[in-house]
Amino acid sequence: MSTKLPFQSDQSSANDKHAEEIKQHRNPDHPVSPLFINRWSPRSYTNQPVTDEVLYTVLEAARWAPSSSNLQPWQFIIAREAAEHELFQQFILPGNRIWTDHVPVLILVASKKLREDGEPNGAHAFDTGAAWATLALQAHLLGLSTRAVGGFDRSKAREVLDIPDHIELHAIIGLGYRGGIDTLDERFHETIISVVVIENSSTILQTRALIGRLSQSAMRELASKALELDSPDEIRSSIEAKVPEILDL
Ligand SMILES: Cc1cc2nc3c(=O)[nH]c(=O)nc-3n(C[C@H](O)[C@H](O)[C@H](O)COP(=O)(O)O)c2cc1C
Repeated sequence: MSTKLPFQSDQSSANDKHAEEIKQHRNPDHPVSPLFINRWSPRSYTNQPVTDEVLYTVLEAARWAPSSSNLQPWQFIIAREAAEHELFQQFILPGNRIWTDHVPVLILVASKKLREDGEPNGAHAFDTGAAWATLALQAHLLGLSTRAVGGFDRSKAREVLDIPDHIELHAIIGLGYRGGIDTLDERFHETIISVVVIENSSTILQTRALIGRLSQSAMRELASKALELDSPDEIRSSIEAKVPEILDL
């Protein structure tokens, strides 16, 4: 009797079920495997635990990434237990903790800057980027999602985890099963943001935008772009097209 290994299963259908929804927002200019398009970085995760078997398969995929002189300079520091999450919470910035506090696995991606002979490895960051990409794609194939986090305090992370200087810290990866709107903090919900453009003292537009908080400068940018256009419809679509970019969606 053969055992079904995770990478042979059809778990990716868990992500494929979102494919239709994703299609509305992500359309390639040239044909590529849906794997690349449907990998997507949500901020909402369920509390379904990630088993050792799945986690090790995801990390195994990263191990097989290409690297200069095959040095495999990447290092992955994992937080899964509550006490480990508490350590990570000390250095993840508040704007990210809104969602990372609910992700079952956090992976701090680091790399060794030096070769074994003590000389600098100029490719350590490049190679580690490849490893993270491979990890993300393998996670997607298993029906999981990932989102990288660059917004963390690196000095604090070094202090908390006692990481020496010859290790570079790149990003923290959230890994888990994608959740729905109910597990997403309200601040990321689709909401109404009134973008009010005032010209000659009269309000010419209030439009609906996607989630988030718009900074004053983003508001000004939206408004100045809108004022270059003539009709309310043009203004509305210009603003709606711009908002996801500004909000880093
Ligand atoms: C190095 C790196 C740092 C990132 N930092 C953050 C972050 O601090 N917070 C966040 O919510 N998303 C962060 N992201 C996620 C990106 O915003 C996201 O991957 C990008 O918008 C593309 O979306 P997609 O992955 O769904 O294609 C980061 C991604 C990368 C690769």
